[in-house]
Amino acid sequence: RVVYCGGKFVSEHEARLGLFDRGFLFGDAVYEVTAVIGGKMIDNDLHLARLERSLSELAIPMPLPREEIEAIQLSLIEKNGLQEGTVYLQVSRGEEDREFLYSEGLKPTFIAFTQVKNLLNNKGQTQGLAITLVEDPRWERRDIKTVMLLGQVLAKRDAKAAGFDDVWFVEDGTITEGASSTAYIVTHDRRIITRPNSRAILPGCTRAALLDLCSRHGVVLEERPFTVAEALAAAEAFQTSATSLVTPVVRIGDVSLNGGVPGPVTRQLQACYLEHVN
Ligand code: PDD
Repeated sequence: RVVYCGGKFVSEHEARLGLFDRGFLFGDAVYEVTAVIGGKMIDNDLHLARLERSLSELAIPMPLPREEIEAIQLSLIEKNGLQEGTVYLQVSRGEEDREFLYSEGLKPTFIAFTQVKNLLNNKGQTQGLAITLVEDPRWERRDIKTVMLLGQVLAKRDAKAAGFDDVWFVEDGTITEGASSTAYIVTHDRRIITRPNSRAILPGCTRAALLDLCSRHGVVLEERPFTVAEALAAAEAFQTSATSLVTPVVRIGDVSLNGGVPGPVTRQLQACYLEHVN
């Protein structure tokens, strides 16, 4: 695989990062994941806008202008012949001897690589997922897409060990979001509900694209926090992300939704989103 590291395209075996990089030592870095389907990036403008926003919240400068980042993404897709998968971008504050306080004017470290992934034809897309609920273990700025992902890593590990496919996080009795996705429920009168953007969740790019599709198709979507009790009593549930697109959730803990199969509203949104990406 060809990756982008140190300001150039190199083989993944030649790529090297500095020992004192703050991304490595402090998790002082942000990232983005853009889906690639049929060789084309999905909603990439939204991802680059969010990258810029995450960086500005941390006072890290953009490593390159947006157009140059996009050109690098496109080159990687081309050089690696990527048809279906992801392009990953990461920007850290840069390198200097280890101190909590950082110096001004560091040169941000920018890396990018592609990953081959089966996004369209997998068990989640076709049959839906069983998820478990756990207390949200994360910090209070979940709106910034940082690489501090240990809460997610451990929660997903524990979910898998307990026989689940994924995790949704809970805070004060309401669902915040999935460990790496936005969470939605569908009520028995077919209203779609998802939490409004705030510091409690990552503002999903797939979420933004789906909300736009809903409003253009006259589908009503309510933005408000929903409780664990509402989720367990829902007609349907699903989650969205760059890598999971619209993925049905057919079981929450030991409660099956819609008889354990993806529901009609979810299927409709799934189809609508697939049309948008194709
Ligand atoms: N994660 N919430 C969290 C905590 C996430 O990590 C993600 C995405 C989302 C969905 O955002 P988007 O629709 O922009 O992908 C919501 C990516 C896929 C990841 O970490 O791999």
